[in-house]
Amino acid sequence: MDTAILRNRFREQFGTSGDLYFSPGRINLIGEHTDYNGGFVFPGAVDKGITIEIYRNGSRKVCLLALDEKEHNYVEFMLDDSSKPEEHWACYVFGVCKELEKRGVSLGGFNAAITGDVPLGAGMSSSAALESVFAFALNTMFAGGRVDKFELAKIGQATEHNYCGVNCGIMDQFASVFGREGCLIRLDCRSLEYEYFPFDPNGYTLVLIDSCVKHMLGNEYNERRESCEKAVAAIATQWIGVESLRDADYTMLDSVKDLLTDTDYRRAKYVLDEKERVLAVCDALNEGNYELVGQKMYETHWGLSRDYTVSCPELDFLVETAQECGVTGSRIMGGGFGGCTLNLVRDTLYDKFISKATREYSLKFGITPKVYRVVIGDGSRKL
Ligand code: GLA
Repeated sequence: MDTAILRNRFREQFGTSGDLYFSPGRINLIGEHTDYNGGFVFPGAVDKGITIEIYRNGSRKVCLLALDEKEHNYVEFMLDDSSKPEEHWACYVFGVCKELEKRGVSLGGFNAAITGDVPLGAGMSSSAALESVFAFALNTMFAGGRVDKFELAKIGQATEHNYCGVNCGIMDQFASVFGREGCLIRLDCRSLEYEYFPFDPNGYTLVLIDSCVKHMLGNEYNERRESCEKAVAAIATQWIGVESLRDADYTMLDSVKDLLTDTDYRRAKYVLDEKERVLAVCDALNEGNYELVGQKMYETHWGLSRDYTVSCPELDFLVETAQECGVTGSRIMGGGFGGCTLNLVRDTLYDKFISKATREYSLKFGITPKVYRVVIGDGSRKL
């Protein structure tokens, strides 16, 4: 992205210039709502994200300018403040500072200006990009890069838990920090082992269609997680060694069906189904069988819609349109409740699909969806 505006605004506001850092948003091919269940995910970083300019100011004060906020775009806080700022966007930075200090990093004050090209509320993890860029920059500036990359991702995740009210898994922050150009990453969220998979589906394109239904994860997301935890607690009363849904199977779940509400049962069942789908997709990718990958994406979508109940009419409509058009795979991406669908489309069908989806969606919902071709890029870095 062009950093000239960022540089000008930083100089205007703070009278100096600083260093530039970038962290990306992410996509996830498959493995949705599996991260906090100890399962597998398949994310990759995108070429869009959050860029900051930052400079130590020699005090204990943090001064933040958010270029893309229309109101309340300037915030100051002291590193020693115990209560978080009122502006939601600034809480991410406040949280990252607190979490770094908890891990023994002694920070000094700084001035920073923030801008981004990752769409907000589109399910591409703009918040993880914001946390990761500050975790990465502050680690470089104040700890000589001593905090390792996993810990940086965990700092972002802890910020969501402790300062932003979202009990998320590790996927988004992991992808933002560890992303690599042209590669998806299979992460085992239980052991934290990961492997890069070069992803170049010859003859196919990955494209996001943004329903423009803004989502902000919060209580509804946390409730899904609680459903899974209730299922695990019930299973653990009868089966030894089950600590997460990763350890459970259908026999175990069915044996406690009567102890669970229908909603909790169906959510847990979705997670078990998704666990199998991720493994099937790994095999399909190894064989270059993208049609099977696509089929699993549809299955994930309808599981998320009917059993996990994190879809909405707009996203279901986009997926149905893809299905009617003969698109290889399509599904909600990310936490749900709005945002984008991820579509795996044969190149020969691409133009037809995009024009049909945009036309029909606009006719039905009165808004033209945005389209982003996915480019898989590198993770957090100094520019
Ligand atoms: C959000 C969370 C992630 C993950 C996804 C769903 O993006 O931040 O941890 O749970 O939802 O897969």
